[in-house]
Amino acid sequence: MARVLTLFAHPRQDRSEINWPMFEAAQTVEGVTCVDLYARYPSFEINIAREQSSLLDHDVIILQHPLYWYSAPAIIKEWMDLVLEYDFAYGAEGTALSGKVMFNAVSCGTARSAYTVKGGHTAELRTLLMPFERTADLCNMRYLAPYATFSAGSLRAENRVKETVSQWHSFLTALTQDRIDLDAAANALTLTDHPDSFFIGENA
Ligand SMILES: Cc1cc2nc3c(=O)[nH]c(=O)nc-3n(C[C@H](O)[C@H](O)[C@H](O)COP(=O)(O)O)c2cc1C
Repeated sequence: MARVLTLFAHPRQDRSEINWPMFEAAQTVEGVTCVDLYARYPSFEINIAREQSSLLDHDVIILQHPLYWYSAPAIIKEWMDLVLEYDFAYGAEGTALSGKVMFNAVSCGTARSAYTVKGGHTAELRTLLMPFERTADLCNMRYLAPYATFSAGSLRAENRVKETVSQWHSFLTALTQDRIDLDAAANALTLTDHPDSFFIGENA
């Protein structure tokens, strides 16, 4: 079984309509460790040794967050800046993360169609998240396409929260059971455009 670590970051959880229920669902999947970064580090005083040790204990690292200004909320950047140290994550001796898998599970306010070269945001979401992909590459990790939830603000009105959360639960379950085609997931633009295409065997 793959050991999955979800690092969740949402600075306004009281207003979260989709990330919080997705994070709650993740807590019910066997083999997934769930960390709420803002709850753990309300003053941004990241315990580097604790976070590095946690990374060593897992095979898959998920950064779960809303898309804020085409990126992640601030604590994720702080976490990356401090935890992914030279000679730990990269550099001559920095092989601790080698071979692990990383991806962003991200919700976006705007529609899928806006995240295209010809769309309103003039680029694919995966392209906009390039700093995460390059970071994973530099640390010799395998970066998967983002697990993207688009039009996040409409989900509640359209009664799609339950279905979205349930699909995330299925994806996480399959990930822990090594039932996700990592090659296909690494080559895709998102993990949610054609979700069934990544499942190996029967979908949970
Ligand atoms: C500070 C801020 C910046 C945002 N930037 C973006 C953005 O760049 N692109 C986008 O599609 N949505 C953006 N949004 C919308 C959020 O991504 C959206 O509200 C969120 O994904 C909904 O998830 P939640 O209900 O869990 O908060 C932004 C929202 C805030 C508050």
